[in-house]
Amino acid sequence: MIQRKILVTSALPYANGSIHLGHMVEHIQTDIWVRFQKLRGHQCHYCCADDTHGTPIMLAAEKQNLTPEALIEKVHAEHLADFGGFYIGYDNYYSTHSPENQQLSEQIYLALKANGKIESRTIAQLFDPEKHMFLPDRFVKGECPKCRARDQYGDNCEVCGTTYAPTELINPYSAVSGAAPVLKESEHFFFKLGECADFLKQWTAGSTTLSDGRTRPHLQPEALNKMKEWLHPGENGEGGLADWDISRDAPYFGFEIPGAPGKYFYVWLDAPVGYMASFKNLCSRIGLDYGEYFQAGSQTEMYHFIGKDILYFHALFWPAMLEFSGHRTPTGVFAHGFLTVDGQKMSKSRGTFITARSYLEQGLNPEWMRYYIAAKLNSRIEDIDLNLNDFTARVNSDLVGKYINIAARAAGFIAKRFEGRLKNVSGSPLLQQLAAQSETIAADYETREYARALREIMALADAVNEYVDSNKPWDLAKQEGQGERLHQVCSELINAFAMLTAYLAPVLPQTAQNAALFLNLPEITWDNTRGLLPENHTINPYRHLMQRVEQKQVDNLIKANKPSIQTAANPDTAAAPDGRYEKVAAQAGFDDFLKIDMRVAKVLNCQAVEGSTKLLRFDLDFGFEQRVIFSGIAGSYPNPTELNGRMVVAVANFAPRKMAKFGVSEGMILSAAGTDGKLRLLDVHEGAQPGDKVG
Ligand code: 2FM
Ligand code: ZN
Repeated sequence: MIQRKILVTSALPYANGSIHLGHMVEHIQTDIWVRFQKLRGHQCHYCCADDTHGTPIMLAAEKQNLTPEALIEKVHAEHLADFGGFYIGYDNYYSTHSPENQQLSEQIYLALKANGKIESRTIAQLFDPEKHMFLPDRFVKGECPKCRARDQYGDNCEVCGTTYAPTELINPYSAVSGAAPVLKESEHFFFKLGECADFLKQWTAGSTTLSDGRTRPHLQPEALNKMKEWLHPGENGEGGLADWDISRDAPYFGFEIPGAPGKYFYVWLDAPVGYMASFKNLCSRIGLDYGEYFQAGSQTEMYHFIGKDILYFHALFWPAMLEFSGHRTPTGVFAHGFLTVDGQKMSKSRGTFITARSYLEQGLNPEWMRYYIAAKLNSRIEDIDLNLNDFTARVNSDLVGKYINIAARAAGFIAKRFEGRLKNVSGSPLLQQLAAQSETIAADYETREYARALREIMALADAVNEYVDSNKPWDLAKQEGQGERLHQVCSELINAFAMLTAYLAPVLPQTAQNAALFLNLPEITWDNTRGLLPENHTINPYRHLMQRVEQKQVDNLIKANKPSIQTAANPDTAAAPDGRYEKVAAQAGFDDFLKIDMRVAKVLNCQAVEGSTKLLRFDLDFGFEQRVIFSGIAGSYPNPTELNGRMVVAVANFAPRKMAKFGVSEGMILSAAGTDGKLRLLDVHEGAQPGDKVG
């Protein structure tokens, strides 16, 4: 066998968010592939890191009263624990905020510059005059220029789907301070991607011939089609490659650009360099030759597993950065689709935005999820659905019912009747049938056709179970003179179990390890898919290897990921979670309803509350009297005086509440908690007067 040298990566998770099942799809997909390569005896290294730079992380740290360094360190530990909990076996999980990454990013930038691929231009961008910072598109909000929906982001409207420049927003405001942004000029550095078009046309459509003679295309067919749209301008000149702005102005959490004080590398420049940095760090720890992997023309293989949303960066920017800075380019970019849960986008309010942590904390077995996800994955860029009923049924029927039970059914007889000793079962047609699939299933793993691999493995498990049913070891055990036959059947079953374990080992690494103990093997390798356990080999007593999924566990998981009703329904204390439709509250009678006295009130004056980022103070005219109400909606109304003069609906008989040091609130203003986390005041139709009863 020719031993391949392979470097594999998963996309680097941002260091300001929790790991959720969407991340797990990718890291499980990668981990299975890496484990498969290692089981086959190849030299395969799996590197990842946290993606630590950029404005959102800088602002998230500020909000938590932490330095960015402290935030990314805290999150790094959490991410490691979450991924480790799902048995993701990185060889290195590093950080983009590392000396290696700084040095490599600078080196790549300087090489691109020396190659004439960097150009400086002055551009005008929206600037927050209060916060003294340029605003990334997602940090400018305002009215959509097309449909006038309010509070839309600076790049596209979530209501009508139009994309636009942040400068086109009507009444824009900074999502950081609420201030109206101004246009300001600044010098930026651009990577001249347009000049790389010929190389990219070739690379994206190209392939690499591997050391074992196989040819592998750089991109999946769907990805290549997408790239063609970007690389080849349409008849009207739309599309085509634009140069890429790779610099950002201070304040920014990142690496300062050499020779350009106050200018920083845009996070997306140093993020993929983080793959190299993580590997370089690994090389220095374990004595590998980094140069062999990254020099131009390297014979080693390098694969990036990513989500379809970041193809642009990995299939265009990244290969061009590598090529024109004198490095090797990727052997393959493997994109996958998104994860939906029960057919819909993951949603916090439905409890389907499932964090890795909550899954582990509820005591669910991570291998159940690894198996389920693998059973859905193929090599195409398709979204995959986690159907929670199907999850329970499939894991219980396939893993416990078909696979684990084989060992459970045979082990007792081998222990009790034959002192743990196996019989020579060479020539068994059943085992020959299992061994015959070794290369087919290996090819499925190799090509990331995991769903097909698992279907084939389960078909083999079915054959084994049919063998159990037709030979009935429990009957043989009761019959006089059938000892030999019982020994034969049970030894075959233990061998079959060992083979199935090896087939499943990339997906179920912990079970494979536990099964190796039971089978009395130092470890499971791919050779166990086709080799028999030796004659007279003794196995250890069987301890149950996997429990069934209980429906209750899945219910609890959903519950654990739902925000509390209190949080969702009380606009005075919190913004709504994202996702649609809160569960309808417990039934209330008419009498209950009558207890709440809601009235129309006119806003006489609305203002921010000094010392509070959440509250707005409303001076209201209720017709029969004037009152002050504090409402926790400052985040949704950055320009409070705009509300002066409008009508609102408020609960008038709400017990007065003391609002910390700010004063007493004499009621509650009603607002709708949107799926985007925004609160929107209720309107009344023209003609309503202060004091009018609502009901
Ligand atoms: O989209 C993301 O989550 C990015 N943090 C992925 C970066 S991948 C690589 F380029 F670093
Ligand atoms: Zn719109």
